[in-house]
Amino acid sequence: MKQKLCLMTVLILLFNSGISHTKEPISNEVLIGNMQSAALKFMKSLGKTLQTAMSTNGPEAAIQVCETVAPNLANQLSKETGWKISRVSLKVRNPLIGTADLWEQQQLRQFSARVLSGEAGRNLEVIFVDSRSETNIVRYMKALPTAPICLTCHGSENDIPKEVAKTLNRLYPFDKAKGYKAGEIRGAISIQTRSQ
Ligand code: HEC
Repeated sequence: MKQKLCLMTVLILLFNSGISHTKEPISNEVLIGNMQSAALKFMKSLGKTLQTAMSTNGPEAAIQVCETVAPNLANQLSKETGWKISRVSLKVRNPLIGTADLWEQQQLRQFSARVLSGEAGRNLEVIFVDSRSETNIVRYMKALPTAPICLTCHGSENDIPKEVAKTLNRLYPFDKAKGYKAGEIRGAISIQTRSQ
């Protein structure tokens, strides 16, 4: 009998440990916290890769980081999390993946207005939870301000080296992402999903 009880306890423990590993629904608060961390991870990882590429191989070679590494990183993060993650802007270089939807456009305008009234772009973020639908839609955006390093490819004619401008013109004939000044909102990281 004693042995049986002992076996049962072991089984219950095993069963419980199995349960604790199954995916439980998470609250919107936790979800939003996870989105904030993912956006930061995306920004940091891209910034680091860009900086290294710029200082090792020069800005022309670094174009590739924005052209391939950035979308790949967004795709990889989207796969890992199950969310839709992208970089959006009001003045896009790549209209296929960078075009903002209506809600994103409104938030980007708000971000720019807040920067004009003195707020620091790097602190700007917005959260939206649509609780009307059966399964909530949760959206998160983090502003991407134009840092001095961005001007090499997104600044005015004087900021962009000739060879870089040439390559950009060839790759992006409909490029609108030029003429930015340091501090202005260049775009945002946008994340959306349905919460469980
Ligand atoms: C070496 C050149 C280069 C530098 C430096 C650079 N970018 Fe870009 N950026 C690009 C290219 C090329 C694209 C288009 C990528 C694509 O094809 O999806 C792009 C796209 C973007 C997009 C996506 C929206 C769009 O316009 O298509 C954002 C947002 C962006 N860049 C922000 C920044 C920020 C912020 C910085 C500075 C931290 C920066 N970039 C620095 C070349 C650059």
